[in-house]
Amino acid sequence: MIKPDGVGRRLIGEIIRRYEQKGLKLIGLKMQWLSPELVERHYQSHRGQPYYEPLVTFVTSGPVVLMVWEGYNAVSVVRQINGATNALEADVGSIRGDHAVTVRYNLVHGSDSPEAARREIGLFFSENELVSYTMPDESWLKL
Ligand code: RTP
Ligand code: MG
Repeated sequence: MIKPDGVGRRLIGEIIRRYEQKGLKLIGLKMQWLSPELVERHYQSHRGQPYYEPLVTFVTSGPVVLMVWEGYNAVSVVRQINGATNALEADVGSIRGDHAVTVRYNLVHGSDSPEAARREIGLFFSENELVSYTMPDESWLKL
């Protein structure tokens, strides 16, 4: 997910470019202004944390870009490209390391396991919004 700061700072293209260039395959994409109810379900494991309410307020403060990326080790590849949660500690070269400075306004969300990815895809996409197709370079990228 590209969070509202990523949309507001005109970084949609920059962020999508990084996942695409690394070798992932985009199979779902849409822009949406999320409801608090949906964001609360998405972040349910964070409920009770001191940052939870500001996080929900932030993620519902503007539109987000929702994406499903498929590929070899896609979950860890995306998290590596995103960088550490606290953008001040994120490696330069990552999205957060190159473009953000705080822990809350850190531009992107990535699922933290294949199970979480399945759950989150189910929350944000219906099956007919996911596209199945073949890329010409699949044998090199283990897609
Ligand atoms: P994400 O889920 O957004 O990909 O980020 P993450 O795994 O790197 O971080 P996570 O621990 O899951 O936290 C979810 C989001 O909550 C906000 N947060 N604020 N101490 C704080 O103020 C704090 N800690 C976390 C961040 O926006 C983080 O991405
Ligand atoms: Mg997380």
